[in-house]
Amino acid sequence: MAPSFVSDLSGRVKLLDGTTIPQFGLGVYEMNDQETYDAVKWALEAGYKHVDTAEWYENEGAVGRALKEYLGSTNTPRSEIYITSKLMHNRTYESALADLKTSLKTTGVEYFDLYLMHSAIGGPEIRKNVWRALVDAQKEGLCKSIGVSNWGAKHIQELVDAGSPLPVLNQIDLHPFMRHPDIVEICEKLGILLEAWGPLARAKRFDHPSLIKIAESHQREPAQIMLRWGLQHGFIIIPKSVSQKRIVSNAQIFDFELSPEQMKELDGLDEYFVTDWDVVDCD
Ligand SMILES: NC(=O)c1ccc[n+]([C@@H]2O[C@H](COP(=O)([O-])OP(=O)(O)OC[C@H]3O[C@@H](n4cnc5c(N)ncnc54)[C@H](OP(=O)(O)O)[C@@H]3O)[C@@H](O)[C@H]2O)c1
Repeated sequence: MAPSFVSDLSGRVKLLDGTTIPQFGLGVYEMNDQETYDAVKWALEAGYKHVDTAEWYENEGAVGRALKEYLGSTNTPRSEIYITSKLMHNRTYESALADLKTSLKTTGVEYFDLYLMHSAIGGPEIRKNVWRALVDAQKEGLCKSIGVSNWGAKHIQELVDAGSPLPVLNQIDLHPFMRHPDIVEICEKLGILLEAWGPLARAKRFDHPSLIKIAESHQREPAQIMLRWGLQHGFIIIPKSVSQKRIVSNAQIFDFELSPEQMKELDGLDEYFVTDWDVVDCD
């Protein structure tokens, strides 16, 4: 079945648990507090409905401040803006719940729309306990949905074998130069959505001839082509930028379409290009 994708910045896709998530969002990794505050403010003003942060990024507070000000000044209900955060350390059931509560407090929100295990690191027993904590956190209303990040196919299979509730999505590095076909396949089979981190490959492949050729054919930038590729695959995409201009231009991907041939050409660029950590094979 062809993947479905949204037609504007507010467009949402459905998750396994019945909730919905805006398919396009802003990533805020490696931004300091001022950069985060400005970027989130500009993004929300530009019509973004979704921000991806993490305990690790040490900027949940700045995300929360920008969110609160935007909601207050525009009279927007909290439910319209989707906030994701992530658990940095997989340790115990208790520490996972405690860390989530600390993140909520730091961010200044009553709930996260989505809370992720940032990785599968720790081994099967720890993963099982931490995942159980997230399942209970969702029941308690601390987060509306729960998911994972950087999980390999074998980690997902572990949950299936245990009969555990499944994550609504798996956030992995995903772009034409890093396609993780085995992870994409198992997730798609189970209805777990893929969320693409590093959807721009950290701006390190914009000079690739195929990308330039396709960008020129649409009179677009390589960045917009990479994002449109992710969108048309049905992936949730969360490009990061500290620049107001690029925050706006990255979202201008809803008024052109890549042809099946162009999608195929981009699909062929996979080179297992690692832009950051690569832990999908951990024990
Ligand atoms: N779960 C995980 O383990 C994990 C790991 C990494 C990232 N993430 C999440 O995914 C988000 C996105 O990934 P990412 O930050 O790694 O990388 P990315 O979005 O692929 O690339 C960001 C880089 O591209 C530049 N850039 C952005 N738009 C551009 C444009 N239109 N033209 C030229 N350069 C542009 C940015 O510079 P400027 O800022 O100067 O524009 C920055 O250097 C993160 O922010 C984070 O929320 C998650």
